[in-house]
Amino acid sequence: MQSLQQKASEWSGVSIADAFAIDEANLFHKLGLQTLVNLSTNFYNRVYDDDQEWFRSIFANSDKQNAIQNQIEFLVQRMGGPTLYSQRRGHPALIARHRPFPLTHEAANRWLHHMGQALDSTSAIDDDSKIKLINFFRHTAYFLVAGVEQKDQNFHVPCKDAALKQHPCKNF
Ligand code: HEM
Repeated sequence: MQSLQQKASEWSGVSIADAFAIDEANLFHKLGLQTLVNLSTNFYNRVYDDDQEWFRSIFANSDKQNAIQNQIEFLVQRMGGPTLYSQRRGHPALIARHRPFPLTHEAANRWLHHMGQALDSTSAIDDDSKIKLINFFRHTAYFLVAGVEQKDQNFHVPCKDAALKQHPCKNF
């Protein structure tokens, strides 16, 4: 049976090594807090202004400022900075936290479309960091689609997957 990571690689076209190249480069130190704040704000401005109602509506019950704060703290932590997200929200458990939402392939594509535009229009993100971030986001988006699809299974089962030994599931 395919692991969630394998599915994510197949669907996103991003290998596990490329997806987690962020772990070899501390992008928090490289880019700095303000850039991650700007990226998260830029991204959610696009999401909440999306002209496609079906996508915008996924966020209808979420407060925009709170969503931005969640994203900033997650990115700071995941990119090698202080563990702001876990201090306030606990384990990221992103699959579990995305369960209420309709995470289809189409939704992942739209999310990635906005993130791609946010990355392109946020200053101070060099090309190498951009590629690493895009690969991480692409892989994670499809990892979440695969995880949410697998509704009736225990979230922690994938953590036992050998492939995750290199990429601890604590990140998700
Ligand atoms: C696949 C398409 C995705 C959709 C449709 C989606 C949708 C959502 C929605 C509706 C929320 C609630 C907003 C909030 O209150 O924070 C949320 C939260 C969040 N999302 Fe996503 N998301 C997607 C992909 C991703 C990806 C790829 C990441 C990370 C790389 C991510 C990270 C987060 C984080 C950290 C939160 C905050 C969770 C919390 O603390 O409650 N999401 N997402």
